Amino acid sequence: MTQRTLSIIKPDAVERNLQGAILKMIQDSGLKIVALKMLRLSKDEARGFYAVHSERPFFDSLTSYMSSGPIVVGILEGENCIEKYREIMGATNPEQAEEGTIRKTYALDIEKNSVHGSDAPETAREETAFFFSRMEVVG
Ligand code: CMP
Repeated sequence: MTQRTLSIIKPDAVERNLQGAILKMIQDSGLKIVALKMLRLSKDEARGFYAVHSERPFFDSLTSYMSSGPIVVGILEGENCIEKYREIMGATNPEQAEEGTIRKTYALDIEKNSVHGSDAPETAREETAFFFSRMEVVG
């Protein structure tokens, strides 16, 4: 089943100039990039994107971090793309991530974990629509 998912290269990774290296890992896995742009979220926009976590103790720190610098957002497409991208990213906590995953290779800690990916088809639809209009999605 061909799916789409949202990918975010987070501020810790952009600050260390890792956009190209992370996009290469994504492309080497066979996933196709069908939308891509760089932007900086305001704190309110970060709160909106992560609204599902608003009751979590890390919410304020997470939204400050996610609005602290530029991010690269993209839409990935491929067979079982949502699960496949989650495998390539590795576990949320880089200490628990498998060798060779993006987070094991580059993440700094459980918050500054370098990348985000949607966790299910419904969230993928919401998250891609949060960042991209239909005109910005090609392929
Ligand atoms: P992400 O996959 O973008 O989803 C929620 C984010 O919250 C997560 O990656 C981390 O960046 C951040 N986070 C910070 N602390 C925690 C925690 N204890 N558990 C899960 N996510 C956390």
